[in-house]
Amino acid sequence: MPNIVILTGAGISAESGIETFRADTGLWAQHDVEDVATPEGFARDPALVVNFYNARRKAAAAAAPNAAHEALARLETHNVGDVLVVTQNVDALHERAGSTNLIHMHGTLDTALCAACGHRWPAPAEMAPADRCPDCAAPAARPDIVWFGEMPYQMDRIFDALSRADIFAAIGTSGNVYPAAGFVAEAARAGAQTVEINLERSLVGSQFDEVRLGPATRTVPEWVDQLLERG
Ligand code: OAD
Repeated sequence: MPNIVILTGAGISAESGIETFRADTGLWAQHDVEDVATPEGFARDPALVVNFYNARRKAAAAAAPNAAHEALARLETHNVGDVLVVTQNVDALHERAGSTNLIHMHGTLDTALCAACGHRWPAPAEMAPADRCPDCAAPAARPDIVWFGEMPYQMDRIFDALSRADIFAAIGTSGNVYPAAGFVAEAARAGAQTVEINLERSLVGSQFDEVRLGPATRTVPEWVDQLLERG
């Protein structure tokens, strides 16, 4: 059975109504990355950062998985390969669609993290900057999001999967942010067939064996159906 590693980004959730980052009217056109997505920004103005992620949590809770999330969950249950989804997204649409072998490499909106002791707990709908850790009681709650300058989660597990990958797909990601943008090169080195599935070619599009362009709700179910037919 082939090892299938799938990297997803904001584009897979766009048709569920969640804003992407780098569209002309996207989140990074509305907010300064340095202010809301760095440890320094959080230290300067925790309320601004917590409120930014409170708004993201609210939008994610109001959204439903789309046909692309559902197709990836279907791929996992049909047992045509060992499927690992690595998402940069902090929404929970993959797990709500039914994916179980899933890594949130940039964290998740659904947990809070204690900056003092590392404890994690379910995030309330509205976090507040002075929230106390339920374990060590430090007033050090932060969103469980990997910010710029921080190490993404579970990199050992991801690189191990990439080194054994037979098929690598990147879906709905612009190729701006490393290490994720480097996964295609890693998978290619391991001999994987690589495919980019995106609305437009990403910054690393030339590194893929194949590029499929179009909205994820069409292109992802098509790709999954072809893999399932191939068996
Ligand atoms: P971007 O906003 O950079 O890119 C989204 C990609 O999805 C673009 O290439 C779009 O063309 C594509 N896209 C948009 N709508 C689509 C659709 N309906 N179907 C298919 N593709 C579509 O988002 P990411 O690449 O995910 O990190 O961004 C990576 C990281 O940068 C994020 O995880 C976040 C951000 O800063 C942190 O906050 C740490």
